[in-house]
Amino acid sequence: MSSNVRPESMERITTEALANAFIDEQVKELRAQIGDKKVLLALSGGVDSSVVAALLIKAVGQQLVCVHVNHGLLRKGEPEQVVEVFRNQMNANLIYVDAVDRFLDKLAGVAEPEKKRKIIGAEFIRVFEEEARKLDGIEFLAQGTIYPDILESDGVKAHHNVGGLPEDLKFELVEPVKLLFKDEVRVVGKALGLPDSMVYRQPFPGPGLGVRCLGAITRDRLEAVRESDAILREEFRKNGLEGKVWQYFTAVPDFRSVGVKDGKRTFAYPVIIRAVNTKDAMTATVENVPFELLQHITDRITKEVENVNRVLFDLTPKPSATIEWE
Ligand code: XMP
Repeated sequence: MSSNVRPESMERITTEALANAFIDEQVKELRAQIGDKKVLLALSGGVDSSVVAALLIKAVGQQLVCVHVNHGLLRKGEPEQVVEVFRNQMNANLIYVDAVDRFLDKLAGVAEPEKKRKIIGAEFIRVFEEEARKLDGIEFLAQGTIYPDILESDGVKAHHNVGGLPEDLKFELVEPVKLLFKDEVRVVGKALGLPDSMVYRQPFPGPGLGVRCLGAITRDRLEAVRESDAILREEFRKNGLEGKVWQYFTAVPDFRSVGVKDGKRTFAYPVIIRAVNTKDAMTATVENVPFELLQHITDRITKEVENVNRVLFDLTPKPSATIEWE
């Protein structure tokens, strides 16, 4: 599949049968393209790269080398899930890189949002490049490019590729889902046996929790973002909001306020809850989360998350706000 244009005759993949037909065809094409060579994939654990990994495992098994870079900005449990699903369950050839200290050191003291994004992107390429150089015989680079990436940016989005690799590491590209829309990628992922928590997950920005730990990232606030986000997701799941609300997360600003705990004065961070619905992320409305649920989540976050003494709910649609805070 080399053309970047989706043929008009291509049927929308909406059922397991159609997904299976797509998978069979791709497996044949991937085997023909890759032969007995090795293919490298940056596996974030997001829907697109996970589906590409599962397709390639089916097509070429151990010839696929997945690299999962843990940059410390992933949600709670995500790196563990990548290792569990791909290495333990699917027997993938997976290199897990713990780059947490490296990223956090590079980001120390950097408060400007776009500068943070640049550092995260550039460091990611550097870590991936180092891993690629350790490997012999790689000829292909797989990417989770999807059709909207081609339509929207005349190419691939930064978070879907490792463009920026030096010339001598320009591998031939393998992009098996590049003509699929997101909903189709999910149907294919489901047919490939990936867990629902991976296939149906909400959008998550490439720079991860880095854009939700506002201002210069510190470890204490990063943990507050991660832990409060985990509580929010757990409560939304338990209360039937998972899959209903388009995107929901927490952010932690870089200021503290006065509070009280166990009769003692505290000086700690607030957690901001954001829950929005949108079709295309260009505009968004705020989900009407039941007040009792917000109170329960507030109670849990202030009791269970260290360094936090307040919880706020963001009532602002897009515009005037953006979905993320940075
Ligand atoms: P905003 O905040 O611009 O977000 O209203 C719209 C959608 O894009 C996601 N987002 C990003 N995704 N890299 C990404 O891959 C980024 O730097 C980035 N910034 C925002 C955001 O989560 C929302 O779904």
